[in-house]
Amino acid sequence: MSVTTRREENVGYVTIDNSPVNAIGLSVRSGLLEAVAWAEKSNLERVIVSGKGGMFAAGADAKEFDSEPVEPHLPDVLNAIDDSFIPWIAAIEGVALGGGAEIALACRMRIMAPGASIGFPEVTLGVIPGAGGTQRLPRLVGLANALDMITFGKPMRAQLARDIGLVHAVEDDPSYAAFMFNSEELGSFVPVRDLPEPVIDTAVIDAARERLANKSRGQIAPFRALEVIEAGMELPFLEGLTIERRAFLELRSSEQAKSLRHIFFAERAAKAPASLTADPVAFDHVAIVGGGMMGSGIAYALLHAGLRVTIVENGDEGVERACTNVDTIIAASLQRGLIDEAGANSRRERFSATSDYSDVADATLAIEAAYESIDVKRTVFRALEYALPANAILASNTSYLDLNEIANAVSKPSQVIGLHFFAPAHIMKLLEIVVGEHTSDAALATGFALGKRLRKIPVAVGVCDGFVGNRILARYREAADTVLMDGSTPWDIDEAMVEFGYAMGPYCAQDLSGLDIAHANRRRQDATRDPARRYIPIADRMVELGKLGRKTGAGWYRYPDGSGRVDDPIVADLALEEAHFAGIKRVDYTDDEIRERILLAMINEAADLLHEGIARRASDIDLVVVCGYGFPRWRGGLMHYADTIGAKSIVAKIESLSVEDPIAWKISPLLQQCASSGILISDAKPA
Ligand code: 3HC
Repeated sequence: MSVTTRREENVGYVTIDNSPVNAIGLSVRSGLLEAVAWAEKSNLERVIVSGKGGMFAAGADAKEFDSEPVEPHLPDVLNAIDDSFIPWIAAIEGVALGGGAEIALACRMRIMAPGASIGFPEVTLGVIPGAGGTQRLPRLVGLANALDMITFGKPMRAQLARDIGLVHAVEDDPSYAAFMFNSEELGSFVPVRDLPEPVIDTAVIDAARERLANKSRGQIAPFRALEVIEAGMELPFLEGLTIERRAFLELRSSEQAKSLRHIFFAERAAKAPASLTADPVAFDHVAIVGGGMMGSGIAYALLHAGLRVTIVENGDEGVERACTNVDTIIAASLQRGLIDEAGANSRRERFSATSDYSDVADATLAIEAAYESIDVKRTVFRALEYALPANAILASNTSYLDLNEIANAVSKPSQVIGLHFFAPAHIMKLLEIVVGEHTSDAALATGFALGKRLRKIPVAVGVCDGFVGNRILARYREAADTVLMDGSTPWDIDEAMVEFGYAMGPYCAQDLSGLDIAHANRRRQDATRDPARRYIPIADRMVELGKLGRKTGAGWYRYPDGSGRVDDPIVADLALEEAHFAGIKRVDYTDDEIRERILLAMINEAADLLHEGIARRASDIDLVVVCGYGFPRWRGGLMHYADTIGAKSIVAKIESLSVEDPIAWKISPLLQQCASSGILISDAKPA
């Protein structure tokens, strides 16, 4: 039974019981409808609805969204609760999200536990509330609050929910508080749908639309939510509900909703891969070698997860720098209200820094975040192996270096793994777990256990230059530079990629991170680069000119007042000059051509990564580009997006580009296989 009922005196208890998150699928909808009839037949005085396991309900069961809707539909179930002559009270613990929050809105009263949250995250799944949320919420909390909650989808903590009138009370035991609540007062509460509609305030609507234009560019659902809320304000409740339902069902089967569901479920599946058989090594104290920006960010992420952390640095100066870096992050988190004073103190207490490896003798996990030099890393690993317990897992945060070469420095390379964090490490969700040729299952399981503990999205990848993310990034930049050389400008390329859904284009992003980093990588790759491969020298010229990005006041763009970005004609001239030296007849690419070339290059590289087994499955590549590299989430990731074009069409396009440059446009065998066999790229497996 997904919904259970019981009676105590004249109070009915209805419990949603659909582990793990009480998602509202068919059995819950049917159970709730039966509970309405049961309560009325039993002549109860009130009904208290809650969720089993400390969780009210996580919303509609999104797994059902790929099939036709089946009766009873949630809006009808909630109307039945609304229509009932017995008042229902929602006792909310954990989360009440989406359809869960809509159940609460259909109740006569809402009580939340202090740690609970409530929200309408439907737009994050590419839909809008489909069971009255857009119609009831504005009546309850006013237009501005409702627009904010629904169009951005961010849940709200209990205290704030009470402050805006979304819930009546915050109580430690919401069910008990619901039981004790005064009958007469309860009887005076009217259903939310009978509250007066909020006044149409065009200024509020325009401001919301403008915010969406800035923050939700390219996404359909947030704008539809706004339209439906606006339309509903001039209509009777039931008519508003009809409009909402129509929009919800239409969006549910849209490409964007499918893409967002794909990423949502891929993220969940990533946390616990079925292939993990060994037990992780238990860790409580973690050693981090290197207290620079990356090391201190990793340290803070671990402290935030409740672990004990010691940074090992060189000499007193290094130790002091590590302490300052970690303390700066703690202070910033405190200032932003992300943690309180007690939390800050607890983090400080669990942190230490040292220059003596013997201080980490009890750490069973170490993460090296030292300078990117193979010799430095090999020395560090030997020191760690000597100092730490025999079963300790030794991880490297290297972004590019060969993990196998690092592992060969120690006597037990099976205990070596890569943990590639992304800067800032305490914020970015992605964690590439690099599996070397000797890496044991226990080491891999430990990497995943850490990912889970840090609430990151862990993705297992194989060893190659750049692993999955940076290898695709390198191809992204190479393709963009080729377009730049052959007929475009950084700003046109950036605009084309922003139009696709990136928050910023490749040149804007490089200006932020600094052109010197990619330059150093290119120098490192000089020795191994295919000499026959076309090399675009424009970025090198930029570095020679000292145009390193924002930090030098000029990069691909100029930053005259330190922040505002201005197109730089010198850069356009530089591209023209290099094209002239190379004897290139430049073409004027359209935005579509720019996008196509860049995205095809990335798809081809990603297909090679899967073919070579560096990525284990297509959805892992989707997670890497979405969670670590700004690929638009609502496009579902690179491989998911590739399937919307189709392997056949991709191969045909790359074939025609290969006439220009057969080396850069060498078609991935995996794409060819998909094109000839009809297998989706998302379903393709490593060779
Ligand atoms: N539908 C189906 N399955 C869901 C689900 C949902 N809405 N929400 C979570 N799950 C599943 C996950 O896939 C995962 O399954 P698995 O164990 O097989 O991998 C399991 O529940 C646990 O989920 P998490 O790993 O995410 O658990 P957490 O404890 O980290 O987080 C949560 C719990 C905060 C509830 C989070 O899962 C979440 O945010 N869920 C989605 C909430 C949401 O978007 N709701 C709106 C749905 S649309 C809707 O309600 C339409 C309505 O208006 C008609």
